[in-house]
Amino acid sequence: MKASELRGDYSRAGSDYVVEQDWPGYSPEEHALYRKLFERQSKLVPRYACPEWIEAIAGLESAAREIPRFDRISKKLRVATGWQIVAVPGLIPDDAFFTHLANRRFPVTVWLRRPEEFDYIVEPDVFHDFFGHVPLLFDRVYADHLYEYGKGGLKAMRLDAVRMLARLYWFTIEFGLMKTPAGVRAYGAGLISSGGELAYCVDDPKPQRLPFDLERIMRTEYQIDRYQERYFVIDSFEQLMRETAPDFTPIYAHLRNLPLWT
Ligand code: PHE
Ligand code: FE
Repeated sequence: MKASELRGDYSRAGSDYVVEQDWPGYSPEEHALYRKLFERQSKLVPRYACPEWIEAIAGLESAAREIPRFDRISKKLRVATGWQIVAVPGLIPDDAFFTHLANRRFPVTVWLRRPEEFDYIVEPDVFHDFFGHVPLLFDRVYADHLYEYGKGGLKAMRLDAVRMLARLYWFTIEFGLMKTPAGVRAYGAGLISSGGELAYCVDDPKPQRLPFDLERIMRTEYQIDRYQERYFVIDSFEQLMRETAPDFTPIYAHLRNLPLWT
């Protein structure tokens, strides 16, 4: 997406794209809309989200009432896993994004969707970024994995392999499923923050649910504007950590010459 097509105000962002959250600037209507989104999703997550996410949200009860103050959450996060949240105007370029992750900073969009976008929004907003991503940053293994991903992103840029690595992000961090004793559950932020796809990804017989396979994922195109046709299922965050630990350099070189899965 070109910067000119993005909704956020990038005029006050520095070279790292960080801005002030300006929490007092949110209107009562925005806090109320956020709370409505939170309440709808809260009815779904006990049944559909992975245990790590559910455990983490219990410690963030203030985030249920109003748009959270990033500095307060960061204080807790720093103690738990060394991460912090930084406010950004919206989507940011790859190099800035990877650099934040590689320094244990998670960029969260400052603005909230409009009421007519309650069910669906194209660009990530503060609800998606916060509700979907931030709770899992309290999980030590997930948090370490995302830090490794950030470093891997900077390396992928040097190797001209960002598209392959972005597919990994898509099928794990955004749309990943996890096997649990109770059945398959969602850990991807795009699922956890979605009013419709969260139940779909677990209950619906239509989509494929394939075991995590790094090379297969890196060769799989994805759609950003509809429910996924396939999900990849991990056994645990430890497995995700382990299977992404090897040096990707030879994997990128090998996959570059192979066709994509359709
Ligand atoms: N192991 C990857 C590499 O060598 C880095 C990475 C780790 C990427 C974890 C994604 C997730 O490039
Ligand atoms: Fe996201």
